[in-house]
Amino acid sequence: MYFSRGRSEGSEGVLNLVDETDAAWVQRVAPHMDEVLVDHAHCEKKAAGAAVKLLFSYPHHRFLQRPLAQLAREELTHFEQILAVLDQRGIVYRSLPPSPYGGKLHEQVRRDEPERALDVMLVSALIEARSCERMRALSLHLPDRQLANLYSGLLAEEARHHGVYLALARELADPEVVRTRFAELALVESEILRAEAPFPRLHT
Ligand SMILES: [Fe+2]
Ligand SMILES: [Fe+2]
Repeated sequence: MYFSRGRSEGSEGVLNLVDETDAAWVQRVAPHMDEVLVDHAHCEKKAAGAAVKLLFSYPHHRFLQRPLAQLAREELTHFEQILAVLDQRGIVYRSLPPSPYGGKLHEQVRRDEPERALDVMLVSALIEARSCERMRALSLHLPDRQLANLYSGLLAEEARHHGVYLALARELADPEVVRTRFAELALVESEILRAEAPFPRLHT
């Protein structure tokens, strides 16, 4: 196993996450930033793809078309930004085994509608929140200041994406239903991250 866990617990209120990434996580990934950057490029591409997939799945939900079209565009811009950094640093963009994080989180999505749509929005909101929170930690603690600046430039948009998905969830269900289900999923998200990670990734 690449990492042991060691995050601070119980710090509520960070983008509605159950716990907060600490500087020790950054210290664990810092020696592997070439690999983390390749993983990050894949994450941006996947985030764009996930938003576009929702446009295809829910054409009857008119309210989500424009916000998710914009979000997908922004994620593809992030993808291009990370590809440029890979090129500047001579890092080869390649396939990597992904972190189990996204797959395990998506296992929580209920199969039948309308619960399925709500869960997809909330899982996406959680992934955006954790991405933002990890980027903030990297921006604060990475010794490589060029990369730290890259992350501080990206995190505001990821925070906005978190809010977009939460707002879409509130179009699909009552606020109390959204709050309760989000809290359940946030707990699972924290447990998934607590498990041992096989390799350095943005979501390990
Ligand atoms: Fe992004
Ligand atoms: Fe995002």
